[in-house]
Amino acid sequence: MPKLFDPVEMGALSLPNRILMAPLTRGRADRDAVPTAIMADYYAQRASAGLIISEATGISREGLGWPYAPGLWNAAQVEGWKPVVAAVHAAGGRIVAQLWHMGRLVPSSVSGMQPVSASATRGPNKAHTYDGKQELPEARAATADDIRRILGDYASAARNAMAAGFDGVQIHGANGYLIDQFLRDGTNLRTDDYGGPIANRLRFMREVVEAVAGEVGIDRTGIRLSPIGESQGANDSDNAALFTAAAAALQALGVPWIELREPGPLSTFRAAYEPAVSPAISRVYSGRIVLNSDYVGESAQARLAEGVADAISFGRPFIANPDLVERIRRGAALGTPDVATFYSRGPEGYTDYRAGSEQEAA
Ligand SMILES: Cc1cc2nc3c(=O)[nH]c(=O)nc-3n(C[C@H](O)[C@H](O)[C@H](O)COP(=O)(O)O)c2cc1C
Repeated sequence: MPKLFDPVEMGALSLPNRILMAPLTRGRADRDAVPTAIMADYYAQRASAGLIISEATGISREGLGWPYAPGLWNAAQVEGWKPVVAAVHAAGGRIVAQLWHMGRLVPSSVSGMQPVSASATRGPNKAHTYDGKQELPEARAATADDIRRILGDYASAARNAMAAGFDGVQIHGANGYLIDQFLRDGTNLRTDDYGGPIANRLRFMREVVEAVAGEVGIDRTGIRLSPIGESQGANDSDNAALFTAAAAALQALGVPWIELREPGPLSTFRAAYEPAVSPAISRVYSGRIVLNSDYVGESAQARLAEGVADAISFGRPFIANPDLVERIRRGAALGTPDVATFYSRGPEGYTDYRAGSEQEAA
């Protein structure tokens, strides 16, 4: 039975433990989506994670709508990421870049253009912008030319991630963003080869994987999915069938690891009320499965024992506990993150959470 502290291989990545840092948007880049110096401190503090999955990082201006989130589409952003990645490596860690196109969830006031999606739909919630929360405009349906261009954007962001020194990439296919908008029949109303039956709705995801893997190698390509429940308005009439088929497609492509955000009904981050699809996914997919949402040390170890998960990713616990791995090892109490500073600017609630041993010494 694997333990959280056992090493694990995920394609080309050799992880010293199975406690992964989940991707966390923190809004500490600059207005040009260039990473800042405090991001190097923040990630280096968390380098004992088996693997750090970076905050979602825009592949293009069109795809990035979160204020002060980072990007990977130009040279300044690559230069900005280099010291961040180097600081993680110097601290003994590993980090992959989460590649993000938000699709219909990009507010025009941030990107300067109408959002693009699988179909002409509108995101349900108000979006964060530089001027507070705003209604989202209706997206336009991607044309065949748009799809080709966006695949090119994924490829060049993946190339840029490697130029910045990342150990690989994770494609953000979860949480109601562009890939999820193509996957689910509530947001994909297309009648061409990218819409209709499940096999067609998987096409965009497959092509993104191929575009990214063409740059970084399939052994450095992972993907995140959110297979149960509705996600920011993206839902499907049969999530279990859709995501089991998606996992089978990822198996055929040779993707070495999938992270699944599967919250339970009591989750404090976007609860879902359907049974987990991960057991069915594990029957069609033989790569590594990383499970996420609401885990603490004991529940994480229990999930590994059930045989579906190979590793567990922790989001909010890593915000307040830079030394989460060591705290779980010692069975030490966990600090509680301050929600008010999740997306604020500067070091407060970002780099000022101290390791448990420093707190005890203080
Ligand atoms: C502040 C914050 C930012 C997040 N940003 C991202 C993100 O950039 N990409 C992503 O896939 N998920 C993101 N998530 C979701 C987390 O990765 C994770 O799924 C969620 O926090 C539940 O896991 P946890 O209970 O371990 O925190 C974010 C969650 C929070 C709280």
